[in-house]
Amino acid sequence: MNQKQGILVVSFGTSYREAFEKNIVSVEREIQNAYPSACVRRAFTSRMIIKKLAARDQFHVDTVSEALEGFLNDGCTELLVQPTHIINGNENDSMLETLCAYRSRFTNIRVGAPLLSGKEDCQQVIDALTGHYDGLGSQNALVFMGHGTTHHADFAYPALDYMCKASGHANIHIATVEGYPTLEEVKASLRIQKPKQVILAPLMLVAGDHAANDMAGDNDDSWKSQLEHEGFSVSC
Ligand code: CO
Repeated sequence: MNQKQGILVVSFGTSYREAFEKNIVSVEREIQNAYPSACVRRAFTSRMIIKKLAARDQFHVDTVSEALEGFLNDGCTELLVQPTHIINGNENDSMLETLCAYRSRFTNIRVGAPLLSGKEDCQQVIDALTGHYDGLGSQNALVFMGHGTTHHADFAYPALDYMCKASGHANIHIATVEGYPTLEEVKASLRIQKPKQVILAPLMLVAGDHAANDMAGDNDDSWKSQLEHEGFSVSC
């Protein structure tokens, strides 16, 4: 029997059309290109975003279980699942729970890890980020906005921050919206470093609300405004 390989790409989701194309579809396309004969499906873990897209755009995105049913309907029982999640947090946990419930109905389900799942991952991410920002200059600082969470997997962010410093990038900082470190910790480092320029960038798959408003927005409590208020020159 020559069975088709199924690949499920699981993302939190976004309602930003541009971010959807640039950040989610592009990842799915890369995966499809790497496995041209595989059947690739999309699922989102955010029900709120699935509902919003359906109501606003009449655009349907599967939940994880809907996508799994789709594979079964196609007779596809060899499955690879790759989350685009950054950390092993709540979204990834709920995805794994759903997969567990389907285990007996598939011949094989293999699951890839979220981006920051270990030391090697952190190093690769740091290499990619520093490669992208190789013109940074030691007089400037780069501050990444991670999402952060109350889930224990939040420890990936301080680990990444520590490894930035340990690999010689004292001017690269990781802060989070909902976890640790917060912008307050990073402000304290910046006050000591006194960079000429602070560059803010999202450390998220999708540049959505958090990047547009909480990071780069003109409102008083955006990270950009807060750092400017501290006297730093900021670019996003
Ligand atoms: Co959020």
